[in-house]
Amino acid sequence: MEFAPIRANKFQEVIEHLREHFPDEPLNECVGLCKKNEPCELLEHHDLHTLEEGLSIMAYDPITGEIAGVALNGVSNKGDNEKAIEEMKDIDNLQYKQIFGLLYNTNQEIDLFGKYGIDKIFELRILSVNSKFRGKGIAKDLFARSEMLAEECGYKLMKVDATSRFSQRVAESLGMITAKAVHYGDFQDENGKHIYQIEAPHEYYKIMIKELGKKSN
Ligand code: ACO
Repeated sequence: MEFAPIRANKFQEVIEHLREHFPDEPLNECVGLCKKNEPCELLEHHDLHTLEEGLSIMAYDPITGEIAGVALNGVSNKGDNEKAIEEMKDIDNLQYKQIFGLLYNTNQEIDLFGKYGIDKIFELRILSVNSKFRGKGIAKDLFARSEMLAEECGYKLMKVDATSRFSQRVAESLGMITAKAVHYGDFQDENGKHIYQIEAPHEYYKIMIKELGKKSN
C-alpha cells in the first residue's frame, strides 16, 4: 500500500470512496443520514471543507491506483464548536441533528480548549477504509501518519470523535486516551424509544485525545 497527501485533483474520487465505504459508520448506519453510493450533501459539504484544509491523507493500491482508505483531517479553532451548534439551528434534517448534535454537544461539555489552554486542535474527522481492504492495519497506518503530520505542524493536541469500536481500538493502540465516553443506549426520545440502536461492539461514542510533542523516555 502507498500513502499520499490528498490533493485537489483527488477530491471527487475521495467523495466517491466515501459514498461507497463510509455509510456503514455505526452512527450513520443507525440514523440513515447517508445511503450507500448516493450523494449526501450535508456530510459532503463537511468532507470538502476538511479536504480543502490540505491535511488529509489517503492510502492507495500502487498497482490499480484505487483508493484503499482515507483520513480526513482538519483544524478546529476555539469558538468553532459554538458556531456549529448555532448553525445547526437552521438545519431541518433530523438525521443530521442526531449525528452532529451528539458530537457538537458532547464536545461542548468537555471544553478541551479551556482544559488544555489552547486555541487550535488537530482533528482526525473521517476515517474510512474500502471494505475489501479492512482488517489489514490501513486505518492504523493512516492514523499514525496523521499524528506525525500534526506533530510536524506543531499542534499540541490531537482529537478524534471515535464513533466505532474499531476506530477506538486504533486510537488506543496509538496511545490516545478517552476524554469522554457516551453510551449510545442512554439516549431515548420523549416516548422512551432508543434514539441510537447501535449493535455491539459499537456501544460507545468516545472523544479520544493525545497530547503531542511530549516525548516519553
Ligand atoms: N471486526 C473486529 N475487529 C475489527 C474489525 C472487524 N470487522 N475491523 C477492524 N477491527 C479492529 C482490528 O482488529 C484492529 O484492532 P486491534 O489493533 O486491536 O487488532 C482495529 O479494529 C483497527 O484495525 P485496522 O485494520 O487498522 O482498521 P481498518 O483498516 O479495517 O479500518 C475502519 C477500520 C476505518 C473503522 C473501517 O472499518 C471503516 O471504514 N468503517 C466504516 C467507517 C467507520 O466506521 N469509520 C470510523 C468512524 S469514526 C471516524 O471517522 C473518526
